[in-house]
Amino acid sequence: MTIMITGATGQLGSLIIENLLAELPDNTIIAGVRNMDTATHFKDKGVVVRCADYDRPETLQDAFAGVNKLLLISSSHSDDAVRLTQHTNVIDAAKAAGVAHILYTGFAFPQAGNKGTSSVHGLTEQAILDSGMEYTILRNGLYIDFVGVLGLNEAIRSGVLATQPGDWQFNAVTRRDLARATAKVLAGSGHEHRIYELAAAQTWTLAGLAEVLTELAGKPVIHTADASVQHWIYHFLNSIDTKSTSNDLEHLMGQPVTSLKESIAPFLNLENV
Ligand SMILES: NC(=O)c1ccc[n+]([C@@H]2O[C@H](COP(=O)([O-])OP(=O)(O)OC[C@H]3O[C@@H](n4cnc5c(N)ncnc54)[C@H](OP(=O)(O)O)[C@@H]3O)[C@@H](O)[C@H]2O)c1
Repeated sequence: MTIMITGATGQLGSLIIENLLAELPDNTIIAGVRNMDTATHFKDKGVVVRCADYDRPETLQDAFAGVNKLLLISSSHSDDAVRLTQHTNVIDAAKAAGVAHILYTGFAFPQAGNKGTSSVHGLTEQAILDSGMEYTILRNGLYIDFVGVLGLNEAIRSGVLATQPGDWQFNAVTRRDLARATAKVLAGSGHEHRIYELAAAQTWTLAGLAEVLTELAGKPVIHTADASVQHWIYHFLNSIDTKSTSNDLEHLMGQPVTSLKESIAPFLNLENV
């Protein structure tokens, strides 16, 4: 059994490989990378490295030769039309190479988002279904990283977490949790033809976030809704489903998701606030 992960040098891919190394022999794991020069750390760990560039279909079919399970990590390109072409390149090459089972990192709860099945993720999922390969769709929840633009350190300094008004609730997750669950799926069995919503089992609110900041900072932080707060992130958050929850992530990980307190700690600079 060989398992390949594309986009392996990225933050999520690297964490998935780290988790897989704890579950499987190193020489059964293949890191698919765009640039071979960036992959020496994988080779040092015994992981096989192959060039798999979404933009160069000629690299893909050779890269996928002999692969049983292929995880396509969605492209980080900013243009969705390009992303769809890249994903289609991977799906076509996987099918031609005889890959038995393809897995894909989509985005959680597409039905409630404003783009639904016409989004790059929806169209990629459909292309995978149409390919006839065994599939597993891992619809990843919103990365917790978005808290990095909410002004958490400023909130601790001033005692006020000011955000745009709205009924905000968040099912956000860490890449570390997503990687743990994804590695379990890749190393395990019985996940064929399943679609998982890898979001948190419970949401948190901005008032709850202020409470956690209070706890971490050891001084009061209150939340206030302020219509003058402007940031593109609110438009994005309004376009996706941040409220729906699922037990899939916890079930696959076999443990609770990382707490809000632990999840936001990397985004705080407590010594300088
Ligand atoms: N759920 C969410 O909230 C959320 C948020 C942001 C992004 N995402 C999606 O999740 C994906 C993984 O996240 P991440 O944090 O791991 O992203 P990341 O750290 O930016 O990694 C992206 C990976 O994609 C690779 N890549 C880019 N273009 C490629 C190409 N043409 N061919 C092959 N590989 C290519 C990059 O390779 P190089 O190292 O060569 O650049 C890198 O390994 C993103 O790509 C994006 O689609 C989800």
